[in-house]
Formats: sequence, structure tokens, C-alpha cells
Amino acid sequence: MTVPKLAKAARIILVGAPGVGKGTQTERLMNRYRELSSISSGDLLRKNVRERTPLGILAESKMKSGALVPDAMILRLIINELTTRGWIRDSALRPYAVYSSSVEVADNTVDMVSIPSALRTSRYTFSDRPSASFILDGFPRTAVQAVQLDNIVPINLVVNLNTPSDIIIDRICNRWVHAPSGRVYNTTFNTPKVDGKDDVTGEPLTRRADDDPEVWKARLKSFRENNEPLLEHYDKLGVLWTVTGNSSDEISPKLFAEFGKRFGALEH
Ligand SMILES: *[C@@H]1O[C@H](CO)[C@@H](O)[C@H](O)[C@H]1NC(C)=O
Ligand SMILES: *[C@@H]1O[C@H](CO)[C@@H](O)[C@H](O)[C@H]1NC(C)=O
Repeated sequence: MTVPKLAKAARIILVGAPGVGKGTQTERLMNRYRELSSISSGDLLRKNVRERTPLGILAESKMKSGALVPDAMILRLIINELTTRGWIRDSALRPYAVYSSSVEVADNTVDMVSIPSALRTSRYTFSDRPSASFILDGFPRTAVQAVQLDNIVPINLVVNLNTPSDIIIDRICNRWVHAPSGRVYNTTFNTPKVDGKDDVTGEPLTRRADDDPEVWKARLKSFRENNEPLLEHYDKLGVLWTVTGNSSDEISPKLFAEFGKRFGALEH
């Protein structure tokens, strides 16, 4: 099997409600397109804390005091990472101020581009090489954060993973357990002989509090409401693409096809 290649940089975000399989789709995309990297704000944060960078120390003290890590810090982590990889460049700095001993400099400077938009005031330029492709995870979560990110690097595809709420709820909430034995029933694929009763003992089955459909209904509703402005933001920029499916296996082929259409190189 040939590994499909990218023709240009894909800078993407996957958006999806809990239970929709965002992690699964991310993993499948990464396995399929070797040029894609995962840039996770959570991972960057943990790495910086672990390595005791100035930013990591500052972020850790915030978290220890129970505060959220401010957006500006998360952005700084992302900027640092993308700069280190040579994918963005701060045009306010002279190149060798950043890439002091890198042989890649010559290579990087030729294909750095600015966003062709009158609205853009960013001082950053970015690489459009396929190897500068990434899935950004954990940030942005709000439209305000998205605007901040736009000023650093333009996301060129936002995938909105859409599975009807009742399907998600069905999938998650059909698990019943016989607590004393740990026997698990799955009301779609492994139903108990008598509804709500353990096959062996006839004792009642219980459901984890987390799997309560009402809890999930509320969780999904709140996700959709909070997420609406973010999707609207990217829709206005023309980079939002929504894919609907009942399961990950139904969504993946559609996602691959669209991804190939937008970023794929012709295979020879
Ligand atoms: C029920 O079983 C099916 C098939 O194995 C699986 O896809 C689904 O996730 C299971 N549901 C739960 C809640 O375990
Ligand atoms: C998705 O689930 C709905 C509701 O169960 C069903 O009507 C529809 O046919 C399903 N779609 C596919 C493609 O299986």
C-alpha cells in the first residue's frame, strides 16, 4: 500500500462532542498521512512543566493556585513549538535571532508566506510545505481564542465531527453491569435474557452514574451551545467542513476523501 502524500501544509482542527470519536479520527489521520504531526496544547504544557522552562514554571504556579493557564501562555507554547519546528517565523525578529545554528534556515526562508488578507496584521509568516502539517488539539476552544490563533497561523481546515446526540447517547448508555460479579451487558450487542436482570443470578443490573442518558443529554447540549461561536467563526473564514455519521467507521472514509481532495498530492 502506498502512503498518501500531501501537496501542501494541512493545518487542521477537529471539533467534536464528547463521545463522537475525535481521538479515533485524529489517530487514523495521523496513521494515514505521515506528514501530519499532532500539536497538543496539553502535551506542550506538560512538557514545559517537566523541563522546567520559564513558561512551564509560570504555568505550573498558575495551576497550583487553582487558576486556569491564561490563553496568552498557551499561545506562547504553541508559538514556541511551531517556531522551533521552523513552521512559523516572527518577521519582527531577524531570522538568525531564532535559528542561530540551524542549517535549515536557507530552506525555511524561501517558502515562508504571509496570509493574503487585507485584514491580517500578523507579524508571523508560515511555511506551506507539506511537512509543516499538523492537527492542533486542545486549543482553540472559543471564538476569542480562535481569533488569537488566526493572528499567528491560519488554520485551513476545521473538521466538525457530527453524530446525532441520540446515537451518541445510545452507544454510551447501553452498558449495564451486574455489580457483584462484574458481568457487563451491552443492550445493543449482548442483551441480558431478562431485561435489567443478571443472566446467572437474576439479580438487578445497574448502570454507572456517568452513563446516565440524562447526564449525557445535558453534557452534549452544553457542548453544542458553547461550541457554536467557534464553529461560526471558522465558517465565516470558509474553512469549516462538517461530516456527519453514526460511527467512527462511517465518518473516517468521508474524512479521508475530503482530506485527500483538499490536501492530497496526485499519486504516480
Ligand atoms: C457495545 O458493543 C458494541 C460492539 O462490541 C460496541 O461497539 C459498543 O461500544 C458497546 N457499547 C458499550 C456501551 O460498551
Ligand atoms: C444512523 O442512525 C439513524 C438512526 O438510528 C438511522 O436512521 C440511519 O439510517 C443511520 N445511518 C446510517 C448511514 O447507518
